[in-house]
Amino acid sequence: MPGRFITFEGIDGAGKSSHIEALAAGLRERGHHVVVTREPGGTPLAERVRELVLHAPMDALTETLLVFAARRDHLTAQIEPALARGATVLCDRFTDATFAYQGGGRGFDLAVLTQLEHWVQQGRQPDVTFWFDLSAELAAQRRQAARSPDRFEQQDEAFFERVRAGYAARRDAQPQRFAVIDASGEREAVWSQIAAAMDKGGWW
Ligand code: TYD
Repeated sequence: MPGRFITFEGIDGAGKSSHIEALAAGLRERGHHVVVTREPGGTPLAERVRELVLHAPMDALTETLLVFAARRDHLTAQIEPALARGATVLCDRFTDATFAYQGGGRGFDLAVLTQLEHWVQQGRQPDVTFWFDLSAELAAQRRQAARSPDRFEQQDEAFFERVRAGYAARRDAQPQRFAVIDASGEREAVWSQIAAAMDKGGWW
């Protein structure tokens, strides 16, 4: 049986990370082999690309091509083999982030993104996407407590409003794979929504 591909999305400050670890632990307790990975990144090559994308100034086309190049390497070297082995793959961000950040945030052409998505993924899509939804205002408050910001975290609230709208458009286009999580509450309240979605979907 091929494994399940689960991705985690949301604007910076939505608080995905600790829940990814908790979900990995819960799945392992139930006997799954779990691979936790992230984008941009997940392979030695893609992690080098991540450094550039997060810190080196570049235009929107360069940024877009780099995230898809990193994704191609990540898919072929890590994600596809893991799914073929039957592992559950938990990936912190995937192509919805490109539609949200490069498409929504930067205003990059969505038709070009769709074309790149087809070339790079050859039909591969996440089975389940947890979208941690949060207002840009609340996310900005949470980010203030965080460490030195990268190129995206330095953007203003209007940018993150557009990113959030970009995620909403993806959810509206493919509602069957999205589980929308209200990320405004306390950690426990957020976790219970994830656990409930896992129960309801029969994804444990
Ligand atoms: P993230 O993975 O949330 O890392 P951290 O929690 O360590 O800050 O952030 C990665 C950043 O990369 C995030 O701001 C969104 C951005 N990004 C894109 O712009 N496009 C993409 O396709 C992906 C995967 C990420």
